Amino acid sequence: MTHHVMNTYGRLPVRIVRGQSCTLYDEAGREYLDLVAGIAVCNLGHAHPSVVAALQNQSSQLFHCSNLYAIPQQETLAALIVENSFDAEVFFCNSGAEANEAAIKLARKHCNSNGSRGPHIITCEGSFHGRTLATLAATGQTRFRQGFDPIPRGFSTVPYGDSDALKEAITDEVGAVMLEPIQGEGGVRVPPLGYLRRVRELCDATGVLMILDEVQTGLARTGKLFGYLHEGIEPDIMTLAKALGNGFPVGAMIARRRVAASFGPGTHATTFGGNPLAMACSHATLTTILDQNIAGTAREKGRYLTEKLESLMVAHPGIREVRGRGLMVGVEFDHDVSFLPIAGIEHGILLNVIQGTILRLVPPLVISFEELDRAIETIHALLTEKGL
Ligand SMILES: Cc1ncc(COP(=O)(O)O)c(C=O)c1O
Repeated sequence: MTHHVMNTYGRLPVRIVRGQSCTLYDEAGREYLDLVAGIAVCNLGHAHPSVVAALQNQSSQLFHCSNLYAIPQQETLAALIVENSFDAEVFFCNSGAEANEAAIKLARKHCNSNGSRGPHIITCEGSFHGRTLATLAATGQTRFRQGFDPIPRGFSTVPYGDSDALKEAITDEVGAVMLEPIQGEGGVRVPPLGYLRRVRELCDATGVLMILDEVQTGLARTGKLFGYLHEGIEPDIMTLAKALGNGFPVGAMIARRRVAASFGPGTHATTFGGNPLAMACSHATLTTILDQNIAGTAREKGRYLTEKLESLMVAHPGIREVRGRGLMVGVEFDHDVSFLPIAGIEHGILLNVIQGTILRLVPPLVISFEELDRAIETIHALLTEKGL
């Protein structure tokens, strides 16, 4: 068959057409337990009734309205985000890369207009911030940049988790540091506890802006509403996307008021940003996460999943480490496990492997303990089958 969809993804042999909570169904009606959640997107599971109702209700009222006009749904959602994060203003967009692009632009504008610090941005080795040119430049993994020269200038990296290295790198030219509370695409890398606090202190001492990319860690994934809450600090800028609309495309860049003030009418824009459909889905998602204490249950289930995975280490000594926070869990192996996603499909479970050796588990946060048991049993069976 001739292909018409551009060949940019290595796609697995399954064709998903429907979902309900933590179960996905293919064209033939086969069921799959979803341990991927669209890569940390559908935190409330598929077809969550509140999000479906919000989308249905909004779609009968108004799909789109230009940002030439005030959009009341944006004001309501921005207020809800701020009420649950820090005193800030919110710019709505459509994806994680776009939220980070907006954060980079705002940081540069802020530095260029204030004059005290240069607009250079420090990011971390192993980070992932998106696939647009500026976010690729910010991403601390060279493999994603290959072939795309010229890459925008103004970025450099330091080792992740190393606050001394960051301190060394902060010169007068540096205006911002951008990092993830836990690196997702980088392999579910958890920095030492206290690292974010130390970064905050360095930023406070120098006037450098702290930009937290919470695109993957945000919205209760790590067992708190946002990853930074584990360390009792607040960033200057935070970016969200993925789970914000529970699958409806939406992103947000949240900045402290004094920083947000560097943007004014006409400085940054996007046609679909803050679209009423996206706002309705996001509002329903965030309200449900808060009302049902989804962060608390993610914490509890994350502990359960981690303990069960650790207990697999006896039968499978190739498991080097189980790490993560909440329901963002990585299992690193001594050997290649890139067979797991296809083998999983054959056994009715969707699994994600990064860099060949790291099994990343980011299920919907509404997954039940029974479903977690089923997932563990299947992973155990798949490894045993391979003699691992
Ligand atoms: C931490 C982080 N930032 C940014 C992105 C990019 O988001 P998007 O794919 O929505 O552009 C991702 C995607 O995986 C991510 O994990």
